[in-house]
Amino acid sequence: MSNPGISEQISSLVTEAREAASASKSLAELEGARVRYFGKKGMFTGLLRSLGAMPQEERPAAGQSVNQGREDAEAFFAAATENLKKKEREEKLFAETIDVTEPRGNNGIGSLHPVTIALRELVDLFVGMGYETVEGPEVEYDKYNFELLNQPKNHPARDAQDTFYIEENIVLRSHTSPVQARTMLARRPPIRIISAGRVYRADEFDATHSPVFHQLEGFYVDKNVTMSDLKGTLEVFAKRLFGENTKTRFRPSFFPFTEPSAEVDLTCPTCGGKGCRLCKNTGWIEMLGSGMVNPKVLELCGIDSSVYSGFAFGIGLDRVGMLRYAVPDMRWLFEGDVRMMRQFR
Ligand code: PHE
Repeated sequence: MSNPGISEQISSLVTEAREAASASKSLAELEGARVRYFGKKGMFTGLLRSLGAMPQEERPAAGQSVNQGREDAEAFFAAATENLKKKEREEKLFAETIDVTEPRGNNGIGSLHPVTIALRELVDLFVGMGYETVEGPEVEYDKYNFELLNQPKNHPARDAQDTFYIEENIVLRSHTSPVQARTMLARRPPIRIISAGRVYRADEFDATHSPVFHQLEGFYVDKNVTMSDLKGTLEVFAKRLFGENTKTRFRPSFFPFTEPSAEVDLTCPTCGGKGCRLCKNTGWIEMLGSGMVNPKVLELCGIDSSVYSGFAFGIGLDRVGMLRYAVPDMRWLFEGDVRMMRQFR
């Protein structure tokens, strides 16, 4: 090259750029340097421009040398970029390290849901009386939810429950009573079970209704089970949950799977029966449905109704929870608001 000055300029610029690259402590700093050397107004561009002053025939070779130098320098920058990226990633990981074994301060444990508390009390009570807990599916066959419970298709009582259908013969169970049928088909008497869980009805969602709620089914089949066994059992339940002074009232009612049937009211635990807003001034609160197992249901489930009899009841657990803990609105049970829940700690 006839201009010896140019190759020195190139090599010193490459050296300088390389030092700037390796001296950069961060990607941001490196980017600053990159612009300084390779940007539109950068030093390599400047050097290329200065070639304009050279004699025409020397320019191509000189231009090539500048570009070669620029490529070499850029390779350093690429390597430096990789290094810094790696370094910054490691620093970030290190900074974000958490010790998962470190004990945390006690800033609040959870609480049991009022319905869970009510359920546990009831399970305790009935297990103490010799009942066994069993479970049943929430997605249920029509057969168990209705047919075996003496509600054939087109039975008028089916309208009374607004059932969610999944398919023609599959429903979201509208009560826990299908567990009665499942249990009878699987075991022989004596049968003494309770079964609790969610049930579903296409219902309103307001202070006293929810499309999903909880029931506890009680079911007892043996020789010589009578209505007074049912009454005695439910009286124990009422007193145990709401106090010794609680009275029960049996109102004749109708369910296809029990005969006779009764709805059971308790003296209002809030006012003790004097009448208040909660019991709409009646002094009574409706608590459950019950009755003597319909002999037809026993027969449908393969139990000889001339030998065996039984009773059944279905308690609204949400209602128990609401009454027991003076929760005025059923929706509060389903919203999971911590301001409500932490009162049950
Ligand atoms: N299954 C009835 C209901 O959901 C309650 C009930 C259970 C009634 C057992 C009688 C016997 O309303």
